[in-house]
Amino acid sequence: MVVDFEVPLSGGDVSEGVVRVGDTVRRPLGAHSPAVHGLLRHLEAVGFDGAPRVLGVDGRGREVLSWVPGEAPRQPLPGFAVSEEALRGVGRLLRRYHEAVASYEAPDGAPWDGETSNLDGEPEVIGHCDVTPENVVFRGGTPVALIDFDLARPTTRLFDVVTALRHWGPIADPADRDAVLYQVDVGRRLRIFCDAYGLERGLRGDVLPAARVRFERSYEAMRIRAESGGGWARMWRGGAGQRILRAQDWLERNWDELDACLW
Ligand SMILES: Nc1ncnc2c1ncn2[C@@H]1O[C@H](COP(=O)(O)OP(=O)(O)OP(=O)(O)O)[C@@H](O)[C@H]1O
Ligand SMILES: [Mg+2]
Repeated sequence: MVVDFEVPLSGGDVSEGVVRVGDTVRRPLGAHSPAVHGLLRHLEAVGFDGAPRVLGVDGRGREVLSWVPGEAPRQPLPGFAVSEEALRGVGRLLRRYHEAVASYEAPDGAPWDGETSNLDGEPEVIGHCDVTPENVVFRGGTPVALIDFDLARPTTRLFDVVTALRHWGPIADPADRDAVLYQVDVGRRLRIFCDAYGLERGLRGDVLPAARVRFERSYEAMRIRAESGGGWARMWRGGAGQRILRAQDWLERNWDELDACLW
């Protein structure tokens, strides 16, 4: 008899109790899980291979997702995760995701998480909204899948791009970056990502303003989430709010130089 052990997974900050069991992942269910499962089923139906499959709910009330073979980077980030080739790959992966999700008509009133940090304007797609290095699976140095759709929600493509840039640029004060990203040329990386994604020229001038709005919203959203305790409170106590303020400040100081790189 083959016994599948539960192997704890701890890539990110928020979810507790994420485990691997054989070729599945078990994660706690939340109010948003039915909405996320509908989304993942759509991605499967249209043949998008860059996301885990939903396999159901186990006897302990956890969601069961397929294990995506490969490696999701963890901190301290390995060099392969921050190469320009990886950056291009993430830009292309996000674009493919947006194309796959564009045909998804989410049920009215689906209980998505985190509605508060949406940008103004009509939502265009269900964005992933959390494309961090820890939420991208690589194989052979190439980004192949997005995982952890807990923050997926209706938004604009630009918002999803900007959230990815926050982490992959990164739009962050050097003091708060992972060591391998300390000295990178962020303007150049923003450009590489936007080119790989294929961001229209008409939207390039909106990137930094959207990042500015996003910082304001996410500071507030995170402060409110932290009040509910758990992983968000831990992140807040660990200085997440201060990091957002420093990133905001760094963005304002480097605005013109970054903006010039985007065109
Ligand atoms: N379906 C999957 N296939 C491969 N690896 C996975 C999968 N799900 C999770 N992992 C691994 O487990 C780690 C943690 O999983 P996940 O991102 O779902 O939770 P989390 O990061 O703890 O939550 P959060 O990002 O909300 O803090 C990931 O970074 C990745 O290394
Ligand atoms: Mg994660």
